[in-house]
Amino acid sequence: MTLTVARVLYNTPLASSYGRVGLSCGDAFAHAKPGQFVMLGFAESIDPLLRRPFSIHRRLDGDGALRGIELLYKIVGPATRRLSRLAAGESVSLLGPLGSAFVLRAGVRRLYLAAGGVGVAPLLFFAEHLDRRQLQMLDCRLFLGGRSREDLLCVEDFERLGIAVVSTTDDGSCGDQCRVTTPLEEAIRLAPPDLVLACGPREMLACVLGIVRQHGTACQVSIETMMACGMGACLGCAVKGHQDETRFLHACMDGPVFDADEIGL
Ligand SMILES: Cc1cc2nc3c(=O)[nH]c(=O)nc-3n(C[C@H](O)[C@H](O)[C@H](O)COP(=O)(O)OP(=O)(O)OC[C@H]3O[C@@H](n4cnc5c(N)ncnc54)[C@H](O)[C@@H]3O)c2cc1C
Ligand code: FES
Repeated sequence: MTLTVARVLYNTPLASSYGRVGLSCGDAFAHAKPGQFVMLGFAESIDPLLRRPFSIHRRLDGDGALRGIELLYKIVGPATRRLSRLAAGESVSLLGPLGSAFVLRAGVRRLYLAAGGVGVAPLLFFAEHLDRRQLQMLDCRLFLGGRSREDLLCVEDFERLGIAVVSTTDDGSCGDQCRVTTPLEEAIRLAPPDLVLACGPREMLACVLGIVRQHGTACQVSIETMMACGMGACLGCAVKGHQDETRFLHACMDGPVFDADEIGL
């Protein structure tokens, strides 16, 4: 883990409240794994006071100044608003890489990815991190849900990798009008996967956990709790254990990626 100052390479709006920011930071994140995150602060500024957690969305493996990471953000408050206004050449401060990563065990042939909204961020890093031969041998599908069409991000990026995308929206503006867990559960019933990887809002992940437990499917979830420090110091990210509800885990240190049987949501 390092604390580094990163320079903004580009900051591209996606839909009205989303964007992608490329950050030049040399080799500081060259060994970052999909699922890990950074705590981002604004260099030379204490406003907002606390760093904010963001999943690593991509590793930028270019030369020299083009090496670094990309983040995908949704504008929800002061930090993400400020992030959205950063111009090329400006700086941010990054602490990381932090936390646990998704793990693809040997023998997985059918893999389902399930994402809600900006929860797609670490899953694209995961998919792009697989080598081409590994991808060709996998039956990999993405189940992507959002409130509306504009909340369905990165569809072309997954399709370019040969991953089939099943989209759903709450308002029916794209794909079926239902929760993303509806087609996910149907697919788990009809063509059981060896592994499900999921990231999204808490309610979605709670539903995913219910489904995989019912079907006995291996699953890892990445949870987005509130985090003040990202380093195990503030206890702000506590998550209940699954079997023993008196046992608490730290999302920042023990997670954010957990096996389905580790946590209760
Ligand atoms: C491990 C991890 C990875 C994350 N990855 C991403 C990512 O890739 N892209 C992205 O856009 N966001 C991600 N988040 C969420 C992101 O950290 C928050 O959206 C951000 O901190 C909001 O800061 P803000 O100052 O803009 O808004 P705030 O004023 O801090 O929050 C605005 C509103 O969002 C709610 N909120 C804030 N943080 C969270 C959270 N973690 N979960 C649920 N609700 C929250 C607050 O309750 C408030 O209602 C991640 C969170 C975690 C823990
Ligand atoms: S965010 Fe402070 S302990 Fe996890």
